[in-house]
Amino acid sequence: MTSEPTASPSPAAQPSPADSALVRAARGLPVQHTPVWFMRQAGRSLPEYRAARQGIGMLQSCRRPDLVAEITLQPVRRHHVDAAIFFSDIVVPLSAVGVDLDIKPGVGPVVATPFRTQADLDRLPELTPDMVPDITEAVRLSLSELGSTPLIGFAGAPFTLASYLIEGGPSRNHERTKALMHADPTLWSALCSRLARIAGAFLQVQVSAGASAVQLFDSWVGALSRADYLRFAQPHSATALAMVEGVPKIHFGVGTGELLASMGEAGADVVGVDFRVSLTDAIERLGGRYAVQGNLDPALLFAPWEPLSSAVRRIVDEGRAAPGHIFNLGHGVLPSTDPDALTRVVELVHEYSAAVAAPDADAGRP
Ligand code: CP3
Repeated sequence: MTSEPTASPSPAAQPSPADSALVRAARGLPVQHTPVWFMRQAGRSLPEYRAARQGIGMLQSCRRPDLVAEITLQPVRRHHVDAAIFFSDIVVPLSAVGVDLDIKPGVGPVVATPFRTQADLDRLPELTPDMVPDITEAVRLSLSELGSTPLIGFAGAPFTLASYLIEGGPSRNHERTKALMHADPTLWSALCSRLARIAGAFLQVQVSAGASAVQLFDSWVGALSRADYLRFAQPHSATALAMVEGVPKIHFGVGTGELLASMGEAGADVVGVDFRVSLTDAIERLGGRYAVQGNLDPALLFAPWEPLSSAVRRIVDEGRAAPGHIFNLGHGVLPSTDPDALTRVVELVHEYSAAVAAPDADAGRP
């Protein structure tokens, strides 16, 4: 972690995404308010998203730069969040290198021919930028409207991608995945090395086109014990993260309370925390070495304002113990969430954290 403060921009200078609250918090630098964005903010909770997507398949939507930019921008316009997340999916790079798959509504990614043997490695060539010119264009289109708001690029981590490939679709227990990693560690390692390079290249394409931060999603890695995580997942996540240069890196998984420090050690600047662990416990487990992101339970957005707002304030307060805190949910926005609840949470995080950061200075605003 960098802890040396850099000079603040002069008031006259054009604000840049590299100096945004999100990037500064990710680097452990002082901020005037806690930055906030939401995993899955670009998606089904928004009527304008449903309208834009009408009649267009999910995977197809992810490859149309005009549509990708529009959907990426929608939550920024509506909620005034501190970052956009690039609209895509963790399986887009696999599809780009030629894996036959689809994203089925209400199900998720489904792979036509699941990965089973050494021969299947031939279906996973390297990802090169010329395979995804649409991604570069969509990032550039998004940046032209984002101005000083940073764009977060993302990819799926090797373990989570391997699970979709091996199981053929979403899985509760990841039994085939775990069977393969223990039965044939050499094949597992070869598969995850390929996936790490694909994920790292996909992240770097987004960064080269102008993304100001990246998030590596290892959504399902909480299914592993720490010993198995260290042996079978962490080295490959580390490869993917090491391929990204020049921007802060966020690393997130679900049910990863036991893995937080090991996920930080994979090469993250920010460790994402799900809602099962308090931020206070997470910060302690991380030894104060990383910024944190999280961790409001997405289901609390369905509760009345009083319990919801007190949970938000508590999370802002707990986050102050870390070198940096990015407010987020503990997992993605649920599709039936009232978008107005998200907008109110953004307002509260901004107001409450600014008042705490500068209690005597008119809430830190000019
Ligand atoms: O707003 C954002 O966060 C940006 C877009 C985004 C999507 N998927 C769009 C999407 C991001 C960051 C993802 C990542 C993703 N995709 C993850 C990691 C994040 C997590 O939730 O843990 C995972 C595991 C996937 C795989 C996947 N794709 C799932 C589980 C699903 C949901 C299936 C369903 O329909 O319930 C998808 C489809 C998907 N990806 C949708 C969106 C907006 C829904 C498709 C639709 O609108 O029809």
